[in-house]
Amino acid sequence: MEEKESWWILVGGRSRLGRALAESFAQDRKLVLTSSKPWNEESRWLESLSKRTRVQTFQWNADDPELVPTMMADMKSLGDAGVRLENAVIVAGTFPESPFGEWTPSSLEATWRMNLSFPLLAAQTLGPGLAAGGCLQLLLDTAIHKPFAKHMPYSIAKAGLAALIPGLAKALAPRVRVVGHAIGTALPNSSDPFNLADRTLLKRLGTPEDLARAIRYAAASPYLTGDILTLDGGGRWA
Ligand SMILES: NC(=O)c1ccc[n+]([C@@H]2O[C@H](COP(=O)([O-])OP(=O)(O)OC[C@H]3O[C@@H](n4cnc5c(N)ncnc54)[C@H](OP(=O)(O)O)[C@@H]3O)[C@@H](O)[C@H]2O)c1
Repeated sequence: MEEKESWWILVGGRSRLGRALAESFAQDRKLVLTSSKPWNEESRWLESLSKRTRVQTFQWNADDPELVPTMMADMKSLGDAGVRLENAVIVAGTFPESPFGEWTPSSLEATWRMNLSFPLLAAQTLGPGLAAGGCLQLLLDTAIHKPFAKHMPYSIAKAGLAALIPGLAKALAPRVRVVGHAIGTALPNSSDPFNLADRTLLKRLGTPEDLARAIRYAAASPYLTGDILTLDGGGRWA
């Protein structure tokens, strides 16, 4: 039998935070990366990553009606190739501004699809396929502690994922562990116009490397499951 290999998968491992995590984990992990878009425009980045580690890419789009069969087929192809997935991180999620009074059925449905249905379907596909002792990790937001007024549907979706963490941990135990990360700003969209750094105890924003460290910790902590780590520089207590 072909020797099994140990890999990590990043769902949404192509842009922004997901890309920064891929760069970090490429130091010492083999990677499966997914994106909603075709990968051919990223050949230069993939070439540079491939010099450091082995990389497999898939296209998983929350809007694709064939998403579930596509994910299942891709997982089967990994198994057939002898890939042993030890850690899965569901990074993908959007941050739509949606103030109270402007909600519409379609805007809410789009927020639920991207920030709830997609992570749930990805978790359902990935969880049972992870190696024994493996860890399924989801990116949440400190909005689960204090919802954002202008991003309430987003905050509600992340609170839904927070409820998923212990539920899924029960469903997948004892074989696979489940951990959530409630993160403050780890990669801002712009320089800090609202002085968010001042609203933390540590007086700085987070970085992708702070998050990468927490993900490595969760992956390597065999007695940790069903819980959410808050990574916000103490912002909750400031
Ligand atoms: N950035 C922060 O400081 C911060 C703070 C708190 C929480 N978070 C959470 O961290 C995660 C990543 O944040 P980010 O700032 O990197 O997000 P972002 O810049 O808004 O990127 C969106 C992510 O979702 C994916 N995506 C977009 N449309 C998709 C679709 N139709 N189907 C599948 N995937 C799709 C994108 O990947 P592709 O374009 O490659 O498909 C990308 O990975 C999110 O879950 C976010 O809620 C981030």
